[in-house]
Amino acid sequence: MESDRIISAHSAEADAGEVGLRPLRLQDYIGQESIKANLDVFIQAARQRGEPLDHVLLSGPPGLGKTTLAVIIAKEMGSNIHITSGPAIERPGDLAGILTNLQPGDVLFIDEIHRLSRAVEEVLYPGMEDYCLDIVLDKGPAARSIRLQISPFTLVGATTRAGAVSAPLRDRFGVINRLEFYSPQQLQLIVTRSAGILGIEIDPLGSEEIARRSRGTPRIANRLLRRIRDFAQVEGQGVIDLAIAQAALKRLEIDAIGLDSSDRRLLLTMIEKFDGGPVGVETLAAAISEETATIEDVYEPYLLQLGFINRTPRGRVVTAAAYQHLGVSSGQAKLWEDF
Ligand SMILES: Nc1ncnc2c1ncn2[C@@H]1O[C@H](COP(=O)(O)OP(=O)(O)OP(=O)(O)O)[C@@H](O)[C@H]1O
Ligand SMILES: [Mg+2]
Repeated sequence: MESDRIISAHSAEADAGEVGLRPLRLQDYIGQESIKANLDVFIQAARQRGEPLDHVLLSGPPGLGKTTLAVIIAKEMGSNIHITSGPAIERPGDLAGILTNLQPGDVLFIDEIHRLSRAVEEVLYPGMEDYCLDIVLDKGPAARSIRLQISPFTLVGATTRAGAVSAPLRDRFGVINRLEFYSPQQLQLIVTRSAGILGIEIDPLGSEEIARRSRGTPRIANRLLRRIRDFAQVEGQGVIDLAIAQAALKRLEIDAIGLDSSDRRLLLTMIEKFDGGPVGVETLAAAISEETATIEDVYEPYLLQLGFINRTPRGRVVTAAAYQHLGVSSGQAKLWEDF
């Protein structure tokens, strides 16, 4: 199951400690340099004008820092943040209730915004554009609508699938940002910072090793750091160095470039059952008993980034680079010998 993966980018109970690791100011947010620089300008400008910041849409794979950035935006604006999610807002009335409760300048954060129903989106449009709500009174021929003013606010929407946000909704965001995977150097800074906060001793080769194997994702880097700390504590001297990091990562079945057994299973299924593809994502999902959305949102983005799979109109294909990494020619896979 995806949720059981040590390397899963999704948040889980085990990541409750994540909260303490979240940077709270823009200057402490590592990486995403151009997004940060632009937001800094927009925030300063809005503050100088005494207006709320324009609505912001953040997209990108899980664990790259969308929620973190939303919280930072509110903090930098000196505003309160209200946090909810697409699936949590079931009926138009739920959203109307949330909107009417906002104070001037508040930030409303809607996670998984692509999962809002059409009916709820309809309520959001005038809210975003004119800070008002159209309330329909009565039914049938007697129906009439009244406009209700709400406080000027900033909507921050987050999504793991930018393509699933409806066009009319996307058009109403003034700032649209796509978060990128982090470089190993940036992840090393994040690991070092987190180790400092958690009081974990780690040397530069240790943090470099964790950074290199974190799939470009801060959440995974922090999670690996905590797990490897356990190995350092029980089986080492409490300090994370290169040897401890490598031994622990091997025990966690994470290979040299951060792929875990689920990634390898996906690639090997494509190779062995579908001859390397093309294979449709639904077929693949059925073959490895995963949800299509999990494959698209969680597994694929990093494998695409590595150039291990390609998306074609006829389905997914495994590339030569993946065959090489897995040590497969056309025969048997060498699973573990290589790292
Ligand atoms: N730029 C960053 N600098 C330092 N730490 C970061 C950064 N981005 C993310 N993190 C760390 O990674 C963790 C996960 O980030 P966050 O929860 O914001 O991801 P997300 O994009 O909202 O994921 P999801 O799509 O699952 O909601 C945070 O708790 C934080 O500790
Ligand atoms: Mg989030």
